Amino acid sequence: MAIAAKPPLGWNSWNTFSHAIDENLIKEAADAMVESGLKDAGYEYIVIDDCWSLRQRDENGRLAPDPEKFPGGMKALADYIHSKGLKFGMYSCVGTRTCADYPGSFGHEFIDAETFAEWGVDYLKYDYCNKPKHVDGPTLYRRMAMALRTCGRDILFAACNWGHDNTLDWIRACGAQTYRSGSDITDSWQSIKDIAVSQMPLEHYAAPYCFNDLDMLVVGMYGKSHNSTIAVNGGCTTEEYKTHFSLWAMMNSPLMIGCDIRNMTDETKAILMNRDILAINQEAECRTPYFSKEWDDVPETVIRMFKPLQNGDYALGFFNMYDDTCSGSAQFVDMGLPETGYGLQLFDLWEQKDLGVFTDIYRVTLPAHGCQMLRAKIVKL
Ligand code: GAL
Repeated sequence: MAIAAKPPLGWNSWNTFSHAIDENLIKEAADAMVESGLKDAGYEYIVIDDCWSLRQRDENGRLAPDPEKFPGGMKALADYIHSKGLKFGMYSCVGTRTCADYPGSFGHEFIDAETFAEWGVDYLKYDYCNKPKHVDGPTLYRRMAMALRTCGRDILFAACNWGHDNTLDWIRACGAQTYRSGSDITDSWQSIKDIAVSQMPLEHYAAPYCFNDLDMLVVGMYGKSHNSTIAVNGGCTTEEYKTHFSLWAMMNSPLMIGCDIRNMTDETKAILMNRDILAINQEAECRTPYFSKEWDDVPETVIRMFKPLQNGDYALGFFNMYDDTCSGSAQFVDMGLPETGYGLQLFDLWEQKDLGVFTDIYRVTLPAHGCQMLRAKIVKL
């Protein structure tokens, strides 16, 4: 079966829990995904990141879960997650060791894929630390992709080599369904902005069955993490999390939640479960948005994105990357609208408000780091 016609939606343990993971936490995350309504909104993967295994392979050369953290083993955990109607994700690495120094899959790719299939894994994040120098990265991603494609189970292959070694040139051909093409996110506005702005020129590579993963969401973390490099000075404001979520949604990124979903504020839930914004991300065609800045020589200002949707509507995103209130505008001719005779009926997706019909131009004033997300219907005047 073809996997990832749309960007995957789920939760990943890394941003908040880092090494502090165990079976109960993962089960509670699965429970929370169902009880909070996230599952109904479309989120389905529960992914365990680094630090789940023993420090060495077992006597048969297989990866083994740390029995203190996962006493019931991975098969039982997968069964639990599947019983909730969710999918189960795990993590390994191209190299001899993972980034946190657990055994990596180098030289064991096929046996590891077989093990993951036996456990009932549906998603594999595959990192890039400790790669032996004598083999190139593309070869190692191709190898694991092949192992997964022939293991007898549908396993989404989530590549994570941070854009090193010209990822975009070979990642789709190797068979990965998602790829990281930037550095790790932290719970800070600077990091959100750096990732979004650096990936905008690269978005035309992303498409169904191989999406650019802008990295796990920090929405709702508010500075809480077991990993001090991810938690930065209290995290972000709710406004910044909204902008972050809107950018990721517009840019067709996988949306992997990184906060503690057992304890979400109402604001966090409202962001992560905004059905209209999710629908823009889960669009049937997943078209690359058209990016345009107000003035090309001013890097930090309102960024505008227009994205054609399958039913003839357009998604419009306005993003203030500037540290102060900022105004911006969209000229409809830039979107393709004829100069006369047509207008746009605009609906605000965060405010859930009809804004009426506009002709020629739409002007918006946004708070620092704020955004506006609109759905536009083309109307004949
Ligand atoms: C990084 C990766 C992170 C996380 C971490 C685990 O390389 O980008 O998302 O998986 O390794 O050690």
